[in-house]
Amino acid sequence: MPGVLLGEEFPNFEADTTSGRIKFHDFLGDSWGILFSHPKDFTPVCTTELARAAKLSDEFKKRGVKMIALSIDSVEDHNSWSKDVMAYANEADSPLPYPIIADDKRELSVLLGMLDPDERNKDGLPLTARCVFVIGPDKKLKLSILYPATTGRNFDEILRVIDSLQLTAQKKVATPVDWKPGEKVMVIPSLPDSEATTLFPNGVTTKEMPSGKKYLRYTKI
Ligand code: BEZ
Repeated sequence: MPGVLLGEEFPNFEADTTSGRIKFHDFLGDSWGILFSHPKDFTPVCTTELARAAKLSDEFKKRGVKMIALSIDSVEDHNSWSKDVMAYANEADSPLPYPIIADDKRELSVLLGMLDPDERNKDGLPLTARCVFVIGPDKKLKLSILYPATTGRNFDEILRVIDSLQLTAQKKVATPVDWKPGEKVMVIPSLPDSEATTLFPNGVTTKEMPSGKKYLRYTKI
């Protein structure tokens, strides 16, 4: 089955982009990376998504995350559509702040399992789904999300997830439902209480549960 699983090394593919030819690992360098695909250039939902991603580019930069988009269109189409995207973002005089991969031969879309069988072009060929891959500085896949063509993504949620990924890569914590940066986090179940008290100087609080099991341990980072 094509695709990349969590924890696997992300393929070091070569591709043409709106910033020239790249080798993916060189493009990433030591940074985190986000690769997000969209079905087609010059389509409405995709335009709103890429404009939102452009508006948030400083937020990705702040987190040390290199951005790159992808669809099965050509570099020429991407360059032309980028102007529409930036006009939609009310920044018509600025270039799109991240490159777009031209996967017009669909090689990467097949390799990464990104095609949406329910959405096809006029020749009956499947379009790319709305995939998100977050890659760590070790080039391993840390997160993947797959939306169908008909549902636009929430880029605030993508930033929230990156905050969680970057925090949990450093500390022995996990982030609970609807967590936002600054809120309490949970001590991971595999960490013994004795180690948790030394690792978390802000203290660890445990919520009593009917089972009597003490697995809901919170701390503040
Ligand atoms: C869109 O971006 O609006 C779109 C693209 C393909 C299928 C459905 C919607």
